[in-house]
Amino acid sequence: MTSYAHANAAAQPIAAPTRPSQTPGANTVVEFQGVTKRYDSGDIGLERATFAIDRQELVFLVGATGSGKSTIMRLLVKELEPSEGVIRVAGRDLSQIQRKSIPYYRRNIGVVFQDFKLLPTRTVYDNIAYTLQVTGASRKQIRAALPDILRLTGLSTKLHNYPHQLSGGEQQRVAVARAFASHPPLLLADEPTGNLDPKTSIGIMQLLYRINRAGTTVIVATHDSDMVNRMRRRVIELRRGRVIRDEATGLYTQDETTSDLGERLRREVETHDRIERARAQTRR
Ligand SMILES: Nc1ncnc2c1ncn2[C@@H]1O[C@H](COP(=O)(O)OP(=O)(O)OP(=O)(O)O)[C@@H](O)[C@H]1O
Ligand SMILES: [Mg+2]
Repeated sequence: MTSYAHANAAAQPIAAPTRPSQTPGANTVVEFQGVTKRYDSGDIGLERATFAIDRQELVFLVGATGSGKSTIMRLLVKELEPSEGVIRVAGRDLSQIQRKSIPYYRRNIGVVFQDFKLLPTRTVYDNIAYTLQVTGASRKQIRAALPDILRLTGLSTKLHNYPHQLSGGEQQRVAVARAFASHPPLLLADEPTGNLDPKTSIGIMQLLYRINRAGTTVIVATHDSDMVNRMRRRVIELRRGRVIRDEATGLYTQDETTSDLGERLRREVETHDRIERARAQTRR
């Protein structure tokens, strides 16, 4: 089983090969096989998409607006049905899941959507607790689970704040914390850094990376190509619903810690900013 996460374990960064064909194996969590989504309007959301994602991978979906990223996310949570093709999650064909079983299926997936909506009249603590409650956790289980999730997401000092008392980045952290509260094996994040400045985005990326390192498969859809390039993880690129690229971009090392990642991203953003400033000056 080829898994990039393990293939490039050497400390020295090495160029990863492209990954043109995808053969699902024992470690496959998500499998799209010739999936087409035609909306009722006739618009194509996805066209013959084929890829497989292994357990514990961190994968980025990129592509211009309207290329099909959110369609993939919505198919995965069974909010949409494919027009053609097969989608399997943890080996299970999604078309075989009955309507009444969908809520149970969804408990295995944490979702951070583009328009993350926090409950405005509830505190950080209650926003996260609410999700656990919905998934059937008891009060005792919620009390036991919350401190860890608050620590993991760096929200321990904000637990009594209401959403309007938080920055955009902090609100997004709550959205991630909420999605991850029940420790689902699969986490989907659609534009988790949309509208955030680069420094705040780094914090969110670190958080997703930390969750991924703790064993969760993470799929992130984003426009932020600079950030994706810096992350140096697998990238699936879409154009008009088709997969046009599937590769582990460039260079990365497997055993980078979360803080190393944060350091490196900050450094790269600073260098980028410096170069941009110098360019702007020479233009003047
Ligand atoms: N409910 C819908 N009805 C009809 N067409 C839709 C619907 N949702 C999406 N589409 C179309 O499907 C295509 C893919 O949309 P999708 O939302 O997956 O793109 P995206 O890559 O997530 O874009 P963005 O980066 O803007 O979020 C687009 O052409 C879009 O217009
Ligand atoms: Mg989208």
